[in-house]
Amino acid sequence: MAITGASGAPYAVRLLQLLTMATRPVSLIVSAHGLRLLHTESDLESMDDLRRAVGGAAWDACVTVYEDTDRGAAPASGSAPSAGMVICPCSMGTLAAVACGASRSLIERAADVALKERRPLILVPRETPLSIIHLENMLRVSRAGAVVLPAAPGFYHRPTDIAALVDFVVARVLDHCGVLQTVVPRWGEGTGGAGTTRRPRGRPSARVD
Ligand SMILES: Cc1cc2nc3c(=O)[nH]c(=O)nc-3n(C[C@H](O)[C@H](O)[C@H](O)COP(=O)(O)O)c2cc1C
Repeated sequence: MAITGASGAPYAVRLLQLLTMATRPVSLIVSAHGLRLLHTESDLESMDDLRRAVGGAAWDACVTVYEDTDRGAAPASGSAPSAGMVICPCSMGTLAAVACGASRSLIERAADVALKERRPLILVPRETPLSIIHLENMLRVSRAGAVVLPAAPGFYHRPTDIAALVDFVVARVLDHCGVLQTVVPRWGEGTGGAGTTRRPRGRPSARVD
């Protein structure tokens, strides 16, 4: 998992919480601007702060941190075992670098490796409006096999707080990571779809299977 400098630090924190609750091993890379946005948006000034926000014990059991400047670290090689990669949030800068295979940082190289090894690569961009260059880069990475999953929460689960909006996006990411999640009811399971009962308002359960 990589965290880059797009707005959306709360998505990254919640995704890490749920991945570690699901006891998934996580190789974590945070770009310099990813850390800057964690500070700006979530008051997390350091990796120690991020560890505490995720949950110290779960973090210690699951998370290995790599420096974004270290292009010789394990995620730089296709021989390192990996179930895939998610970049959440993904800046337009990192998207562009992935789209052209720049590999000028560990994050960019690990994404390049995911594509060449035909492993899942999930990008969670956040930008608005989108330029033609942004759109073309998204098309390019999609054609190369990545999933572009914009940080664009829906409203049909009747969110009443920011946490519910965050969970909406993170739940879709977990679906694409192959991690079974129950934090947001699926359409038709209490979300107000035809033949269903609407779920009571409030934050969904944090249970992850
Ligand atoms: C407060 C702040 C908010 C930003 N929000 C976004 C954003 O939503 N999307 C984006 O693509 N870039 C955004 N940026 C710009 C990126 O952080 C910048 O392009 C950076 O070089 C990305 O580097 P990285 O991909 O290595 O993290 C923001 C920057 C700052 C300081």
